[in-house]
Amino acid sequence: MNKDIQSIVLTEEQIKEKVAQAAAWLDERFAGKNPLFISVLKGSVMFFCDLVRAMQTPVQMDFMTVSSYGSGSESTGMPKIVMDLAAPVKDRDIVLVEDIVDSGHTLLRMRDLITGRGASSFTTVALFDKPARRQVDIKADFACFEIGDEFIVGYGLDYAQQYRTLPYVGILKREIYEK
Ligand code: PRP
Repeated sequence: MNKDIQSIVLTEEQIKEKVAQAAAWLDERFAGKNPLFISVLKGSVMFFCDLVRAMQTPVQMDFMTVSSYGSGSESTGMPKIVMDLAAPVKDRDIVLVEDIVDSGHTLLRMRDLITGRGASSFTTVALFDKPARRQVDIKADFACFEIGDEFIVGYGLDYAQQYRTLPYVGILKREIYEK
Protein backbone atom coordinates (compact mmCIF):
# COMPACT_ATOMS: atom_id res chain seq x y z
CA MET A 1 0.00 0.00 0.00
CA ASN A 2 1.14 3.56 -0.75
CA LYS A 3 2.78 5.11 2.35
CA ASP A 4 0.49 8.18 2.28
CA ILE A 5 -2.67 6.08 2.47
CA GLN A 6 -4.25 5.56 5.87
CA SER A 7 -6.60 2.75 4.84
CA ILE A 8 -8.18 1.21 1.77
CA VAL A 9 -11.84 2.05 1.19
CA LEU A 10 -12.35 0.03 -1.98
CA THR A 11 -10.26 -2.77 -3.36
CA GLU A 12 -9.84 -3.42 -7.07
CA GLU A 13 -12.26 -6.33 -6.76
CA GLN A 14 -14.94 -4.21 -5.07
CA ILE A 15 -14.59 -1.53 -7.74
CA LYS A 16 -14.88 -4.10 -10.51
CA GLU A 17 -18.02 -5.61 -9.04
CA LYS A 18 -19.73 -2.23 -8.75
CA VAL A 19 -18.61 -1.13 -12.20
CA ALA A 20 -20.31 -4.26 -13.60
CA GLN A 21 -23.55 -3.29 -11.82
CA ALA A 22 -23.38 0.27 -13.17
CA ALA A 23 -22.72 -1.11 -16.67
CA ALA A 24 -25.74 -3.42 -16.44
CA TRP A 25 -27.91 -0.49 -15.27
CA LEU A 26 -26.77 1.52 -18.30
CA ASP A 27 -27.21 -1.39 -20.72
CA GLU A 28 -30.80 -1.72 -19.59
CA ARG A 29 -31.47 1.95 -20.34
CA PHE A 30 -29.51 2.42 -23.53
CA ALA A 31 -29.74 -0.89 -25.43
CA GLY A 32 -30.57 -0.14 -29.06
CA LYS A 33 -29.77 3.57 -28.66
CA ASN A 34 -26.67 5.49 -29.59
CA PRO A 35 -25.66 7.35 -26.42
CA LEU A 36 -22.71 9.71 -26.14
CA PHE A 37 -20.73 9.05 -22.98
CA ILE A 38 -18.81 12.00 -21.58
CA SER A 39 -15.90 11.59 -19.22
CA VAL A 40 -15.33 14.58 -16.98
CA LEU A 41 -11.55 14.69 -16.84
CA LYS A 42 -9.39 14.04 -15.18
CA GLY A 43 -10.87 12.28 -12.15
CA SER A 44 -13.32 10.02 -13.98
CA VAL A 45 -10.92 8.59 -16.53
CA MET A 46 -10.26 5.21 -14.88
CA PHE A 47 -13.91 4.66 -13.99
CA PHE A 48 -15.02 5.77 -17.45
CA CYS A 49 -12.72 3.37 -19.32
CA ASP A 50 -13.70 0.42 -17.13
CA LEU A 51 -17.39 1.31 -17.32
CA VAL A 52 -17.69 1.54 -21.10
CA ARG A 53 -15.73 -1.68 -21.53
CA ALA A 54 -18.01 -3.49 -19.09
CA MET A 55 -21.07 -2.53 -21.15
CA GLN A 56 -22.65 -4.62 -23.89
CA THR A 57 -24.12 -1.58 -25.65
CA PRO A 58 -21.70 0.16 -28.01
CA VAL A 59 -21.33 3.81 -27.03
CA GLN A 60 -19.59 6.87 -28.40
CA MET A 61 -17.13 8.72 -26.19
CA ASP A 62 -16.19 12.33 -25.63
CA PHE A 63 -14.17 14.17 -23.03
CA MET A 64 -14.35 17.42 -21.19
CA THR A 65 -11.87 18.83 -18.71
CA VAL A 66 -13.46 20.68 -15.85
CA SER A 67 -11.56 21.99 -12.87
CA SER A 68 -13.03 23.26 -9.65
CA TYR A 69 -10.46 22.47 -7.03
CA GLY A 70 -7.19 23.91 -8.32
CA SER A 71 -4.56 22.34 -6.10
CA GLY A 72 -6.60 22.55 -2.88
CA SER A 73 -9.28 20.40 -1.31
CA GLU A 74 -12.24 22.80 -1.33
CA SER A 75 -14.44 23.48 -4.34
CA THR A 76 -14.10 26.99 -5.71
CA GLY A 77 -17.85 26.90 -6.48
CA MET A 78 -17.09 28.01 -10.05
CA PRO A 79 -16.02 25.01 -12.14
CA LYS A 80 -13.91 26.07 -15.07
CA ILE A 81 -14.21 24.44 -18.51
CA VAL A 82 -10.58 23.82 -19.36
CA MET A 83 -11.29 21.71 -22.46
CA ASP A 84 -14.68 21.56 -24.16
CA LEU A 85 -16.33 18.62 -25.93
CA ALA A 86 -15.41 17.80 -29.50
CA ALA A 87 -18.86 16.48 -30.46
CA PRO A 88 -22.18 18.34 -30.61
CA VAL A 89 -24.68 17.13 -28.02
CA LYS A 90 -27.86 18.40 -29.69
CA ASP A 91 -30.54 15.67 -29.89
CA ARG A 92 -28.20 13.13 -28.29
CA ASP A 93 -28.70 10.90 -25.26
CA ILE A 94 -25.90 12.04 -22.99
CA VAL A 95 -24.41 10.02 -20.16
CA LEU A 96 -22.06 12.03 -18.00
CA VAL A 97 -19.52 10.01 -16.03
CA GLU A 98 -18.06 11.54 -12.88
CA ASP A 99 -15.69 10.17 -10.29
CA ILE A 100 -17.29 12.08 -7.43
CA VAL A 101 -20.15 14.42 -6.70
CA ASP A 102 -19.05 16.59 -3.80
CA SER A 103 -20.43 20.15 -3.54
CA GLY A 104 -22.41 19.41 -6.74
CA HIS A 105 -21.23 22.55 -8.52
CA THR A 106 -19.48 20.64 -11.31
CA LEU A 107 -22.47 18.40 -12.03
CA LEU A 108 -24.86 21.35 -12.00
CA ARG A 109 -22.63 23.29 -14.38
CA MET A 110 -22.38 20.31 -16.73
CA ARG A 111 -26.11 19.65 -16.66
CA ASP A 112 -26.93 23.27 -17.46
CA LEU A 113 -24.37 23.38 -20.23
CA ILE A 114 -25.39 20.12 -21.89
CA THR A 115 -29.15 20.54 -21.62
CA GLY A 116 -28.68 24.14 -22.78
CA ARG A 117 -27.01 22.79 -25.92
CA GLY A 118 -30.12 20.75 -26.70
CA ALA A 119 -29.32 17.20 -25.54
CA SER A 120 -32.40 15.00 -25.71
CA SER A 121 -31.60 13.31 -22.39
CA PHE A 122 -29.04 13.73 -19.62
CA THR A 123 -28.09 10.86 -17.33
CA THR A 124 -25.31 10.92 -14.76
CA VAL A 125 -23.28 8.12 -13.27
CA ALA A 126 -20.83 8.77 -10.47
CA LEU A 127 -18.40 6.46 -8.74
CA PHE A 128 -18.78 8.31 -5.43
CA ASP A 129 -21.41 10.50 -3.88
CA LYS A 130 -20.62 12.66 -0.85
CA PRO A 131 -24.11 13.88 0.08
CA ALA A 132 -22.97 15.52 3.32
CA ARG A 133 -20.88 17.98 1.30
CA ARG A 134 -23.60 19.08 -1.10
CA GLN A 135 -24.02 22.83 -1.62
CA VAL A 136 -26.51 22.69 -4.50
CA ASP A 137 -29.57 20.49 -5.02
CA ILE A 138 -28.41 17.87 -7.50
CA LYS A 139 -27.51 14.19 -7.47
CA ALA A 140 -26.30 11.51 -9.82
CA ASP A 141 -28.86 9.12 -11.33
CA PHE A 142 -26.61 6.20 -10.41
CA ALA A 143 -24.01 6.56 -7.66
CA CYS A 144 -21.86 3.50 -7.06
CA PHE A 145 -20.80 4.32 -3.51
CA GLU A 146 -21.91 6.81 -0.92
CA ILE A 147 -19.19 8.07 1.40
CA GLY A 148 -18.73 10.52 4.25
CA ASP A 149 -16.30 13.38 4.38
CA GLU A 150 -13.08 11.36 4.18
CA PHE A 151 -10.41 12.59 1.80
CA ILE A 152 -10.16 9.76 -0.69
CA VAL A 153 -7.69 9.26 -3.52
CA GLY A 154 -6.85 6.64 -6.11
CA TYR A 155 -8.55 5.13 -9.18
CA GLY A 156 -8.57 8.56 -10.82
CA LEU A 157 -9.07 10.69 -7.73
CA ASP A 158 -6.22 12.97 -6.76
CA TYR A 159 -4.77 15.23 -4.16
CA ALA A 160 -2.64 17.91 -5.84
CA GLN A 161 -2.55 15.75 -9.02
CA GLN A 162 -1.06 12.80 -7.17
CA TYR A 163 -2.34 9.28 -6.39
CA ARG A 164 -4.62 9.02 -9.47
CA THR A 165 -2.93 5.86 -10.71
CA LEU A 166 -3.46 3.79 -7.57
CA PRO A 167 -5.64 0.83 -8.61
CA TYR A 168 -7.67 1.04 -5.35
CA VAL A 169 -9.36 3.90 -3.47
CA GLY A 170 -7.93 4.86 -0.10
CA ILE A 171 -8.21 7.50 2.59
CA LEU A 172 -5.33 9.93 2.49
CA LYS A 173 -3.45 10.46 5.75
CA ARG A 174 -4.50 13.76 7.29
CA GLU A 175 -0.87 14.86 7.70
CA ILE A 176 -0.47 14.90 3.91
CA TYR A 177 -3.09 17.55 3.22
CA GLU A 178 -2.75 19.46 6.48
CA LYS A 179 0.97 20.08 6.29
C1 PRP B 1 -13.39 16.86 -8.96
C2 PRP B 1 -14.19 15.67 -9.44
C3 PRP B 1 -15.48 16.28 -9.91
C4 PRP B 1 -15.62 17.50 -9.04
C5 PRP B 1 -16.63 17.23 -7.99
O1 PRP B 1 -12.75 17.45 -10.05
O2 PRP B 1 -13.54 15.00 -10.47
O3 PRP B 1 -15.42 16.65 -11.26
O4 PRP B 1 -14.36 17.75 -8.44
O5 PRP B 1 -16.68 18.27 -7.05
P1 PRP B 1 -17.92 19.22 -6.87
O6 PRP B 1 -19.11 18.36 -6.75
O7 PRP B 1 -17.57 19.92 -5.56
O8 PRP B 1 -17.96 20.16 -8.01
P2 PRP B 1 -11.49 18.43 -9.92
O9 PRP B 1 -11.92 19.85 -10.12
O10 PRP B 1 -10.74 18.16 -8.64
O11 PRP B 1 -10.65 18.02 -11.17
P3 PRP B 1 -10.09 16.56 -11.55
O12 PRP B 1 -11.25 15.75 -12.03
O13 PRP B 1 -9.10 16.84 -12.63
O14 PRP B 1 -9.45 15.97 -10.31
